[in-house]
Amino acid sequence: MVMLAAMNKPCFLLAVLMGLVFPLVPRVYVSAAPYDPPHQQAIVDDALRPASAIRDALRESSIIPDVLDDFTPSLSLTLTYPSTHSTVELGNTLRPSLLTHQPVYQFHPFTPTPLLPSDDTSSFFYTLILTDPDAKSRKHPIWSEYCHWILTNASSPELIHHHNTNTNTKTKHRILKKYLPPSPPPGTGLHRYVFVLLRGETGADRKDVSAPKKRRHWGYGEERRGVRDWAAEYGLVVVGANFFYARHEGDWV
Ligand SMILES: *[C@@H]1O[C@H](CO)[C@@H](O)[C@H](O)[C@H]1NC(C)=O
Repeated sequence: MVMLAAMNKPCFLLAVLMGLVFPLVPRVYVSAAPYDPPHQQAIVDDALRPASAIRDALRESSIIPDVLDDFTPSLSLTLTYPSTHSTVELGNTLRPSLLTHQPVYQFHPFTPTPLLPSDDTSSFFYTLILTDPDAKSRKHPIWSEYCHWILTNASSPELIHHHNTNTNTKTKHRILKKYLPPSPPPGTGLHRYVFVLLRGETGADRKDVSAPKKRRHWGYGEERRGVRDWAAEYGLVVVGANFFYARHEGDWV
């Protein structure tokens, strides 16, 4: 500070500019030297960027901690409603009339780099859910969470491609809870609709997942209980998430 104060104005500006430019220098250097180990580091940093962007969006919307404990996504999860060309984009707002049919899903690692052997799809199974923590409204979550969809033994073409496994690839997913289209009641404002990708381990001690008895509170009978408890019951771990907002169709201005 003392040093800066002693500088004249152009010199100070130069120092600021240098400070802005300098962080870029190592990256430029690194990409010019592809065989340097630090290059590997740069790839890892880039790979983590989408994961932290997802985590940031989940925290900003309070989905962490309302629905999920804090976590770092390891898979990207995309959802599309093909017949209405609607895509779920980490907090965009969608009209319920676009969401009447079950969406198509895809999940894959953030980078094309090979996964660890322990990430082999044959040792894991994936479950995809849709939950509404804002039923009947975000202010009065008396029915929350409300379970909209559970699909298990999910597989994604890109994951299959990654591993060339032959065991799970032909398994068709199983619907445990039929897709219930979002239909937020009138006057209840924006609801958060949260897709969560859960991973369980296959193996002898695998507990086969089953649907909750009720959609309301995911059958746990208390406010703001839901996918977190259900996942814990079956030893499932959160590996990805995506979400959108929706309000009652007639409340659209
Ligand atoms: C999922 O797949 C596993 C193994 O392929 C099978 O044992 C299990 O019953 C399936 N679960 C459901 C709910 O279909």
